[in-house]
Amino acid sequence: MTTNRMTLTLPEDSRLRQPEFLYGVATASFQIEGAAETRQPSIWDRFCATPGKIRDGSNGLQACEHVRYWREDVALIESLGVDAYRLSVSWGRLLNADGSINESGAQFYLDLMDELNRKGIRVFVTLYHWDLPQHLEDKGGWLNRDTAYQFRDYADKASRLFGSRVYAYATLNEPFCSAYLGYEIGIHAPGKAKRSYGRQAAHNLLLAHGLAMSVLRKNCPDGLHGIVLNFTPCYPLSSSPADKAAARYADDYFNQWFIRPLFTGEYPAILSSLEEADRPHIEPGDMAIIAEPLDYLGVNYYTREIYRASPDAPFETVQLDNVERTDIGWEVCPEAFTELLCSLHKKYPLPPIYITENGAATADEPVGERVADEQRIRYYQSHLNAVHKAIEAGVDIRGYFAWSLMDNFEWAEGYLKRFGIVYVDYPTQKRIIKDSGLAYRDAIVWRSHK
Ligand code: FCB
Repeated sequence: MTTNRMTLTLPEDSRLRQPEFLYGVATASFQIEGAAETRQPSIWDRFCATPGKIRDGSNGLQACEHVRYWREDVALIESLGVDAYRLSVSWGRLLNADGSINESGAQFYLDLMDELNRKGIRVFVTLYHWDLPQHLEDKGGWLNRDTAYQFRDYADKASRLFGSRVYAYATLNEPFCSAYLGYEIGIHAPGKAKRSYGRQAAHNLLLAHGLAMSVLRKNCPDGLHGIVLNFTPCYPLSSSPADKAAARYADDYFNQWFIRPLFTGEYPAILSSLEEADRPHIEPGDMAIIAEPLDYLGVNYYTREIYRASPDAPFETVQLDNVERTDIGWEVCPEAFTELLCSLHKKYPLPPIYITENGAATADEPVGERVADEQRIRYYQSHLNAVHKAIEAGVDIRGYFAWSLMDNFEWAEGYLKRFGIVYVDYPTQKRIIKDSGLAYRDAIVWRSHK
């Protein structure tokens, strides 16, 4: 039995309906490219090869074989009617270990960008979406300050090569995840776990961002340059002062730590509550480099977290019962999205914002040629409404990217979690546009006709 397809409706009289508001889809190199043999190994290759790190024991060696099927994938992107595509460049595909350009890797990205530009699809490039070359990790990775300078060199070479093909650059994707998940609690590559490591990696990543910003500005004066941060807003379990203080601490530790230095040149005041040995080493001038002005801020949002006071730590996480969750266990909470955008707007002198990731994991099963992913459509509907509310409240938001174009390698979850608006059957590499993809397309294509 076939049921009617659920649709997405953009709010009436909203900026979300204007042709200038950009709609896009997003991916990241390690999660889709495959063709691992034609690039330098990255920390994620090493992590995947370590038993017990990836839930289904999988890796990124094939992924969506995008390096092989990129032309078909660009046609797919075009068929979704989007204005922009956010992709990431693999550092170890573009550069050889000695820093020279890897010709075949460079050609791959040039061809991809040319094809996107020919089709009128704007190219948003993220230079670092977590796949640090392993040879740099062998020298300390993000714990080594020199990696920030290596990143500047990579950003310089990439931006000279790509020239005007790129509409917007993001230096880093979610430095919180690289630093905290990768070096502080070790559930992501490279799997190191120490508070001082997490804080030092965060500082070196932000320094890398700032160093790259001035290079990007110089090489591509007409492009937009910024950074992509993720936010998981922190709510107190109760209105008690202790729970509120716990949620505030968590927010400073996980969220403000990464945005505050960009706009104020300072880490949150909780820095001084850390043991001396856990505080990052900061050299004179670093904070000014980090606070280099941005053309735009990329915001990634999926969910919120709840905290309460704890006798042994500054905060404790609480799992609420009876709330809607997606297949990855994250609470669906569009209200927190609006509140997040409004609170950032209130706290900081923000440049224009692009929502660079938002989406949901659902346990999709195709029936014939159809994937009826209704929870994802409801998620997109409520979160687009949440963006509209923030715009109405005065936040300058210029675009929205669905995470993700297609199902892909979901880091420590392997291939178990599907975030795509396009279904990928990994054994055959067949792609099927899910109902959410069709609903997204219809909403975008018809937005100015309604
Ligand atoms: C974000 C990552 C992205 C994807 C989504 C689900 O944290 O940037 O690569 O894994 O989560």
